[in-house]
Amino acid sequence: MAGRPGASALVLLAALLAPALLVPPVSGRGGRYHGDWDTGRLLPPLPPREDAARVARFVTHVSDWGALATISTLEAVRGWSFADVLSLSDGPPGAGSGVPYLYLSPLQQSVSNLQENPQATLTMSLAQTEFCRKNEFDPQSPLCVHTILSGTVTKVNETEVDFAKNSLFIRHPEMKSWPSSHNWFFAKLNITNIWVVDYFGGPKIVTPEEYFNVTLQ
Ligand SMILES: *[C@@H]1O[C@H](CO)[C@@H](O)[C@H](O)[C@H]1NC(C)=O
Ligand SMILES: *[C@@H]1O[C@H](CO)[C@@H](O)[C@H](O)[C@H]1NC(C)=O
Ligand SMILES: *[C@@H]1O[C@H](CO)[C@@H](O)[C@H](O)[C@H]1NC(C)=O
Repeated sequence: MAGRPGASALVLLAALLAPALLVPPVSGRGGRYHGDWDTGRLLPPLPPREDAARVARFVTHVSDWGALATISTLEAVRGWSFADVLSLSDGPPGAGSGVPYLYLSPLQQSVSNLQENPQATLTMSLAQTEFCRKNEFDPQSPLCVHTILSGTVTKVNETEVDFAKNSLFIRHPEMKSWPSSHNWFFAKLNITNIWVVDYFGGPKIVTPEEYFNVTLQ
């Protein structure tokens, strides 16, 4: 037993040092904020699965990116659904608004698609975090919580632009140095329909009213 205090002090030291060692050095080009949810270190506990609105807000808030499906304007696949990965943020860590904000450029195919048809569907999954791996849930398992949000993608107006910018840049510092020649602008998904897959028995429908009514602590 005499060796225990020393051993636990070492373990504690290792625990204190490990996160610092795992975080890649922040280069001049930015890097992700420390305490990245992708690593699972700071992932808050999942809300009760029966509270689908709260679960949906949780998934949106912990997601740094999602797959946005738009209707293609590319000739080869015109009219087909076309999903691309986009970085997003609904607010600074711990202060999510539920609104997925995006930083887009007219050079992106998704944006060309949205100019013709702003209707889009955003899918986010806890497979993007440690949650599903740690619990050994396959990404397609309903236990590996995921959400599907439909709506229209709209440019963010003057009133909202500061919140959108702060929300995105705090979680994607690299965005600050993206080339201005790409004419980046702030946008958001104006959510009209929400499906939550968080248990067996099919997706649960949550209304935007229920979704935005949730306050996450
Ligand atoms: C900007 O957008 C917000 C959120 O949709 C809205 O509440 C506000 O009225 C808009 N402001 C202007 C000036 O259009
Ligand atoms: C968001 O969607 C709602 C419902 O379709 C619509 O009434 C509203 O005008 C939309 N807002 C924007 C900014 O497009
Ligand atoms: C909004 O939240 C309050 C407090 O939790 C709840 O009583 C009310 O039913 C909710 N309304 C909607 C539309 O979800």
